[in-house]
Parts: sequence; structure tokens; C-alpha cells
Amino acid sequence: MSRPRRLLLGAVLAIAAAALWWRKNPSACPYGQRFWVQAPHPFITRARLREILEPVPGEHVLEVGPGTGYYTLDVAEWIGPDGAMHILDVQQEMLDHTMGRASERGLALSPLLADATQMPHEGASFDAAYLTTVLGEIPDQEAAIRELARVLRPGGRLIVGELLGDPHYVSFGALSEKASAAGLVFELRLGGFLGYFARFRKPGDATGEG
Ligand SMILES: C[S@@+](CC[C@H](N)C(=O)[O-])C[C@H]1O[C@@H](n2cnc3c(N)ncnc32)[C@H](O)[C@@H]1O
Repeated sequence: MSRPRRLLLGAVLAIAAAALWWRKNPSACPYGQRFWVQAPHPFITRARLREILEPVPGEHVLEVGPGTGYYTLDVAEWIGPDGAMHILDVQQEMLDHTMGRASERGLALSPLLADATQMPHEGASFDAAYLTTVLGEIPDQEAAIRELARVLRPGGRLIVGELLGDPHYVSFGALSEKASAAGLVFELRLGGFLGYFARFRKPGDATGEG
């Protein structure tokens, strides 16, 4: 084999090994690598999030893992000044970055440094919650989805976005199993294998009736 081919093969194998290692060792994308989350998000666009989230002015919404706020500011605008936009992240730098951007746009957010698997919120606190390219970074995904289900009000919705190419990509099949185990009901999916949003609903209605 020629030298350039050996080099190319070596590079491909190194990238594949790194991707495999990342998959087997889930961890939060470090703030120092935020350029990944600031790049455009094909397939899981803000417009698509709006379509599947169906935000209503005045709602209480939780975003887990906002990163640098790619979706946050728009969602805060969609729910308007009567709504309440909460963000939760394990990295203070991500929260600070998003808060800085929000204040530039005159938007109020409630930030919280916490882990998605142990949220301090009371049960039934939110009308909706969403997370995009976050779930695969969490070592105990089942616990995170259980927590999300707990903090949603009856009838509330959970939106999960995933993008192929993210080393922590969670397939729709794996997500559906976990959501179902947490008592959530699948409702809608936008997008395919390359990148999708999925919506699940917590059974019951706002009055708590099952
Ligand atoms: C790849 S970034 C995605 C950022 C943003 N959702 C986006 O799509 O642009 C993942 C984010 O999830 C956060 N995160 C990772 N594990 C978490 C956990 N266990 N609880 C809360 N946030 C977490 C990271 O700190 C980071 O802000």
C-alpha cells in the first residue's frame, strides 16, 4: 500500500476509534468545544422545533442542556413575557453564555446548574421540556427520561432532538423504548435517520385526570 493510502487509512481508523470511545464513555461536550454546538443544526432546525413543540404563550418550558442557547432564545420569545423559560445544564459556562445572549435580547430565563438525572424541581412543574443532542451525553439516559417525565405536568410534552454525526447520537428506536419505559406516549416524529425531533406526551390532562 502506498504511503498516502496508509496515512489516510490510519486517519480513518483513528477517527472511528475516537468516535467509538466517545460512544462508550458518554460525557458533557466541554465548553471549550462549544464551536460544535454553535454551528448550524441541519435537520433539527429551530423552525422544526417550533413545529413539534407547538409552544403556547404563557407556558412554562424547560430546556435541558441548552449549550450556548442555539434554541433557547427563540423558544423564550415564542412563549412570550408571560411564559417561563427554564434552562438546566451541568456546566456553569454554558448557562452563563446563554444568559449573556438572553440579556442582550432582553429575555428573562431561569438558569439552574444541575444534572438531568437529579432535578431539584417539584413534580408536574412544566408544560413542556426539550433537549437536543444531549441525551447521549448522559451516562444514565433512563434516569434522565424518568426525571423529565416526573417534572412534566400530566398532558405535558417532551421533545427530543438527535443529529447523526454526533458521536452520542441516540436512535429513534432506543429513545422510544426508554420513553415508553418512563410512561411517556409517542406522538409525533419530524425528520428521519439523519436528524429528527420526536414528541412524547405524559398521560393525563392539566387537571391531573388520567
Ligand atoms: C452537545 S451540547 C448541545 C447543546 C444544545 N442543546 C444544542 O443543540 O445546541 C450538550 C449540552 O448538554 C449538557 N449536558 C450534558 N450532560 C448533561 C446532564 N447530565 N445534565 C444536564 N445537562 C447536560 C452539556 O453541558 C451541553 O451544554
